[in-house]
Amino acid sequence: MKQYKVGIIGATGMVGQRFAVLLENHPWFKVTTLAASPRSAGKKYKDAVKKWLIEEKPMPESMADIVVMDATADIEKIAAEVDFVFCAVDMKKDEIKALEEAYAKHECPVMSNNSAHRFTDDVPMIIPEINDEHMAIVADQKKRLGTKRGFISVKSNCSIQSYVPALSPLRKYGIKNILACTYQAISGAGKTFETWPEMVDNLIPFIGGEEEKSEQEPLKVWGEIKDGKIVKADSPSITTQCLRVPVSNGHFAAVFVKFENKPSKEEILDIWKQFKGVPQELDLPSAPKQFLNYFEEDNFPQAKVHRNLENGMAVSIGRLREDTQYDYKFVCLSHNTLRGAAGGAVLMAELYAAKGYFD
Ligand SMILES: NC(=O)c1ccc[n+]([C@@H]2O[C@H](COP(=O)([O-])OP(=O)(O)OC[C@H]3O[C@@H](n4cnc5c(N)ncnc54)[C@H](OP(=O)(O)O)[C@@H]3O)[C@@H](O)[C@H]2O)c1
Repeated sequence: MKQYKVGIIGATGMVGQRFAVLLENHPWFKVTTLAASPRSAGKKYKDAVKKWLIEEKPMPESMADIVVMDATADIEKIAAEVDFVFCAVDMKKDEIKALEEAYAKHECPVMSNNSAHRFTDDVPMIIPEINDEHMAIVADQKKRLGTKRGFISVKSNCSIQSYVPALSPLRKYGIKNILACTYQAISGAGKTFETWPEMVDNLIPFIGGEEEKSEQEPLKVWGEIKDGKIVKADSPSITTQCLRVPVSNGHFAAVFVKFENKPSKEEILDIWKQFKGVPQELDLPSAPKQFLNYFEEDNFPQAKVHRNLENGMAVSIGRLREDTQYDYKFVCLSHNTLRGAAGGAVLMAELYAAKGYFD
């Protein structure tokens, strides 16, 4: 496989640091360029990062002396240096939209962790195992932007990464209603217990904007391309409550689901066991071998025990049983900063690379 030169926009932040660690020894992608705000620009990466937040691994030595560029002022230079960029910045939505479009218009594809473009009609929101067919909309997006190779692709919000994969292969039974309560880790807010001590022994029943994302984003992921747009699916009806819980990493969801044609429990378990997406078929470097993992034990999965399954890229499911009001209920878990953020974006980029979009 060809080697691609990669930039990380927002490299000094929490997600940016995750990208740095995940890409350190990547077989296809080599980080050559780092960028952040004007506050960091001109400094070496090791001096620009205020606090290294990845507990398991130190800052990659190969990146420590790279001089950080200005994500906005240096767009032209960065776009000329790399084959594509990952983007995770903390800026206003309209500023992020403009920044990402500027990279695309400089013929630099953008693999985005930001939410700004998630509902732009011709920007695909990809969960690689679920909706790779939405990549085809890139041709329409390039027409709109007037580009040859520049485009934007986003990943979904971390909250839906656990339950959308579990529900997607069950859509053939006609899902009518979904109720999902999410229990979300503090790293999803870019925090640790050290930086957010109020979360120790606490629960906060509100995460700004999260319930809307959790109800709307699955419908785009399950949507169809029509007339140059991704049109959201008009069903199922989804309702959610999203809570912040005192867990460092790993978002949980407790899910209730009602079908048009109720499958048996055995059918559901078999579908989850057999499920493979394109990343598994292509054996992409970051793809988990087994994406959906069902645990029979009543007290599994657990955040601390299972979030790192298959390098934090797998989804863990448990407690599938019949319900008195819905057909079934179950719980599921995914690592929010790996599968739910940087890892999901790296896998998405591998899919685009494998399909020739960066050539
Ligand atoms: N944390 C998560 O688990 C998670 C999950 C999914 C998606 N996201 C999304 O990913 C993005 C980044 O999140 P984060 O948690 O990594 O945030 P963060 O730790 O606050 O990092 C923000 C990054 O944005 C850069 N930045 C801020 N203002 C900028 C500007 N004007 N121009 C260029 N760069 C600028 C910062 O650079 P300086 O260091 O120079 O200020 C830093 O590199 C957000 O859109 C967030 O919603 C986060």
